[in-house]
Amino acid sequence: MIGKLRAWLAQRRAWRRRRRKRNKKYARWLAAHPGQSYAQFYVEETRRQIDAGMMTYSNIGLDVDIGFMKSRAQRILEAFKRAGCQPHHVVVDYGCGSLWIGEAFMDYLEPGNYVGLDVADGFYVEALTRFPEDYVAERRPMLRVISPDSLREVRDRKPDFILSTGVLMHVPPEDMTNYFVGLTAVALPHTRIEIGYQATLFSGWEPPRFWRHSRFAIGSALATLGYRARYSAGHRILTATRGFALVRR
Ligand SMILES: C[S@@+](CC[C@H](N)C(=O)[O-])C[C@H]1O[C@@H](n2cnc3c(N)ncnc32)[C@H](O)[C@@H]1O
Repeated sequence: MIGKLRAWLAQRRAWRRRRRKRNKKYARWLAAHPGQSYAQFYVEETRRQIDAGMMTYSNIGLDVDIGFMKSRAQRILEAFKRAGCQPHHVVVDYGCGSLWIGEAFMDYLEPGNYVGLDVADGFYVEALTRFPEDYVAERRPMLRVISPDSLREVRDRKPDFILSTGVLMHVPPEDMTNYFVGLTAVALPHTRIEIGYQATLFSGWEPPRFWRHSRFAIGSALATLGYRARYSAGHRILTATRGFALVRR
């Protein structure tokens, strides 16, 4: 028992050290990139780590376990189909990254009905290079960097579904409201919203690059936006993995 407690305390100290180090790194980056956000820092850091071969078991970039990524994307697509997603529907992938999920939806949806949004275009521009030349022209994905203009443009497409998975874990607590503001800005009353994220008991930092958000913190960020998080299977689409649906209050 005492041994376990000591190990836990040692881990907490190590995490705090790593967090201080990352905070300093972010502060230095912000000084060199005034006005930019943590999300842009995350994108640059991730790119650097991918290029240095430091990212393993990742779902971003092209050097991933492709078989796993494709079967994961198929499982997600099948769950969306069970939830009523049809080819004529418009699906927004918020934080679309390297289009591993996007690929499955582009194949299934009618041309132009897959919408990928991200904080920067680097990952999806790189992802486009892996498709045959005529595929993109034929499937016509709508890919945009998140901005007030692109959010308006996407909302005008009247999305039926919004999916954001593998994203909230990269959003620090102080940016969580902004993340939900952007995401809900493209939603209409009929839009079903599914967030893939395992909420935790307490909020905090988890090395090497994750943020924990409690259900309480998520609920508080959503309250001002007129939404609530619903964790039960009855509200959700991806019932086999942790996450929640956003429903209007
Ligand atoms: C690990 S990847 C996940 C990609 C994809 N959703 C998937 O599950 O395969 C995380 C993505 O979230 C994006 N991202 C990070 N912070 C974000 C934010 N605040 N809003 C929207 N996207 C964000 C990153 O640029 C990156 O493409």
